[in-house]
Amino acid sequence: MADRYLRFTRTAPGRFLTRRLGLPQPVALHRWSAERPTLGGPLLHLTAGRSTLDLPPVLARTGLAAGAERPAAIVLDATGVRDVDALAEVHAALHPVVRSVAESGRVVVLGSPPDPTDHHHAAVQQALEGFTRSLGKEMGRGRTVTLVRLADAESAESAESTLRFLLSPKSAYVSGQVVEVGSGDVVAPEDWARPLAGRIALVTGAARGIGEAVARTLARDGAHVVCLDVPAAEADARRVAESIGGTALTLDVTADDAGARIADALPEGLDVLVHNAGITRDRTLANMTAERWGSVLDVNLASVLRTTDVLLARGVLRGHGSPEEGRGGGGRIVVTSSIAGIAGNVGQTNYAASKAGVIGLVRALAPRAQAEHGVTVNAVAPGFIETRMTAAVPLFVREAGRRMNSLGQGGLPVDVAETVAWLSGPGSGTVNGQVVRICGQSLLGA
Ligand SMILES: NC(=O)c1ccc[n+]([C@@H]2O[C@H](COP(=O)([O-])OP(=O)(O)OC[C@H]3O[C@@H](n4cnc5c(N)ncnc54)[C@H](O)[C@@H]3O)[C@@H](O)[C@H]2O)c1
Repeated sequence: MADRYLRFTRTAPGRFLTRRLGLPQPVALHRWSAERPTLGGPLLHLTAGRSTLDLPPVLARTGLAAGAERPAAIVLDATGVRDVDALAEVHAALHPVVRSVAESGRVVVLGSPPDPTDHHHAAVQQALEGFTRSLGKEMGRGRTVTLVRLADAESAESAESTLRFLLSPKSAYVSGQVVEVGSGDVVAPEDWARPLAGRIALVTGAARGIGEAVARTLARDGAHVVCLDVPAAEADARRVAESIGGTALTLDVTADDAGARIADALPEGLDVLVHNAGITRDRTLANMTAERWGSVLDVNLASVLRTTDVLLARGVLRGHGSPEEGRGGGGRIVVTSSIAGIAGNVGQTNYAASKAGVIGLVRALAPRAQAEHGVTVNAVAPGFIETRMTAAVPLFVREAGRRMNSLGQGGLPVDVAETVAWLSGPGSGTVNGQVVRICGQSLLGA
């Protein structure tokens, strides 16, 4: 599972040799820790076009001091870019400073949703997407670039949780992504360090891998976490649950009564539901038995549909969705997709079908679940993450998966977990129906 190449490039002879041979030079990403919770360096706020956005108060709360000297982060407000001339201001603003961004730093471009009734506006705002994705591929040295489209052109409050995430080490492996933030009031958590305090979360497949990391991260953020896994993984599920003060729940999510049993185990209701359990049974379609097809579709898609329906219908997911309370206080569903579900992959027609299926689920259910239940529904789509699932991949494919992205390395389970935690937070009520890739800007897929 260990990335030996990454370790080798961090030694002096490794650095020398890989440089001489022109091989990738991945850097050790700065990830969140209690000792280094912020990006550290200054934040540079730039503007292109005529913006009406009141950004400084929110940026001031990210914990980064304003400054231009070797910035750890640049936020470019391009929400007011309406024509090609203003687009030139994007170039003018970033061209002189882009080289100075610190290692593992961030560039966050703020845009507006392309206006479907104004093709000039739509053109230049869409232009920012190509710009962002290209800059992400150019930056190197662990630096990431994201585009955040803000529906509210005046207030940045609705994007605070998103900006806090992107401008922190928690988003180390998220790059080249576009995130839309809706308008509306959000409920800021009382304590941003423990935004899930007093909340109950359930994570499926929590005995190991990404699910274990999600359970640990949600617990760090204050949640009581119910760690669900199959009976055969009971010992591991208990070990994880006990170490984070949570509860273990053993059942197979494909069982007919899985939704009902989850509901019965949660008499106080549920705030955050994370569908993470997943399996692969790879074969090319010509070699794939109906059993391989069926088991993957059942675990990865059908069970997600069934349990979500039961938990919403029985009111187990707590919406807190009254307008007086604001949208941010609502329930959260996060579904685990995969870049295979976006780009497709040889030998994974079953897996990719299931992972594309959950994206369809998210897009269709998100607006309705929010309107009817006060619950947001989003997807995370991991790329190559170092787990037992990817350790089983043949060596050559594994090496390609690790290197074929803008950061030149695989992600860690915690990278997915931090993204889930952001989407699960009470302050993320304006983030709905999104599919966020955690892939280091993989070369596969859009
Ligand atoms: N590892 C990656 O690179 C990667 C990439 C993209 C997507 N994903 C997705 O992330 C999720 C987690 O992946 P991982 O690498 O941690 O996998 P993993 O195999 O290490 O862990 C999956 C967990 O789900 C549990 N599980 C499987 N079937 C279950 C069932 N029927 N009921 C209850 N629990 C069940 C397993 O027991 C296991 O504990 C999966 O949905 C996977 O498809 C992983």
